[in-house]
Amino acid sequence: MESSHPIGIFDSGYGGLTVFKSIAALLPGYDYIYLGDNGRAPYGNRSFETVHQYTLECVEWFFKMGCPLVVLACNTASAKALRTIQQIDLPRIAPDKRVLGVIRPTAEIIGTFTHTRSVGVLGTKGTINSGSYEIEINKFFPEVKVHQLACPMWVPLVEYGEYNSDGADYFVQKYLNELLAQAPDIDTILLACTHYPLLLGKIKKYLPAGINVVSQGDIVANSLAGYLQRHTEIESVLTKHGNMSFYTTDDTSDFDNHATAFFGAKMRSVHLHL
Ligand code: DGL
Repeated sequence: MESSHPIGIFDSGYGGLTVFKSIAALLPGYDYIYLGDNGRAPYGNRSFETVHQYTLECVEWFFKMGCPLVVLACNTASAKALRTIQQIDLPRIAPDKRVLGVIRPTAEIIGTFTHTRSVGVLGTKGTINSGSYEIEINKFFPEVKVHQLACPMWVPLVEYGEYNSDGADYFVQKYLNELLAQAPDIDTILLACTHYPLLLGKIKKYLPAGINVVSQGDIVANSLAGYLQRHTEIESVLTKHGNMSFYTTDDTSDFDNHATAFFGAKMRSVHLHL
């Protein structure tokens, strides 16, 4: 029997499905495995050590499942674990495998969206406190001013399915007002957390006209397509039957019910005990 070599897509919970949706639409031929570490989400307020430990456990599991390439579709894991995994862990445990994140591909392009050269970045506490976006964006666009704000209530609202509720309006308005108070010339707001696109309707409702809101799905999908074109040594070992499987470290029926809203299609997940 031919062995399977899917692309692994990882998030702390459901958020990575917003990125996976764009990846699967752009690159439908490949096999994919999605893992949401819902049992230990949210990651956003956890320490560097904990996010690294959890993310590495999940990455090792993807490798056991045959994935030559794993995308961390989670900004918090990309900010707090990716560099250690790439520089310290991979050379030791799997030198021929690759792990990619979502921050660099986003930073590479975000400067092309702004006219005022003033960008707002909204993310989890972990992502914002790491300073990763400011550092990475300024590597590509040194003149762009980056204004950041952590929105610690947004992931719980999304994870608990409250993103359409009236209660969500309060926290959406609160954080947008705080961000715009930092710099009224912001004309581009990056949703630097893969959960936040679920709040897009409410975010747009409370923003003044003319502010561009950018989600990461299509950016990461395009960047992955470019990566696969450049890295034929990885691309050539990936299997291409269009199969997708979904795993969660929490309850599968909860996952299946919630995940549909993020992915736009029904799924049946499998429980993973880590
Ligand atoms: N979806 C993750 C991100 O992009 C964070 C969610 C969490 O706090 O676990 O940052």
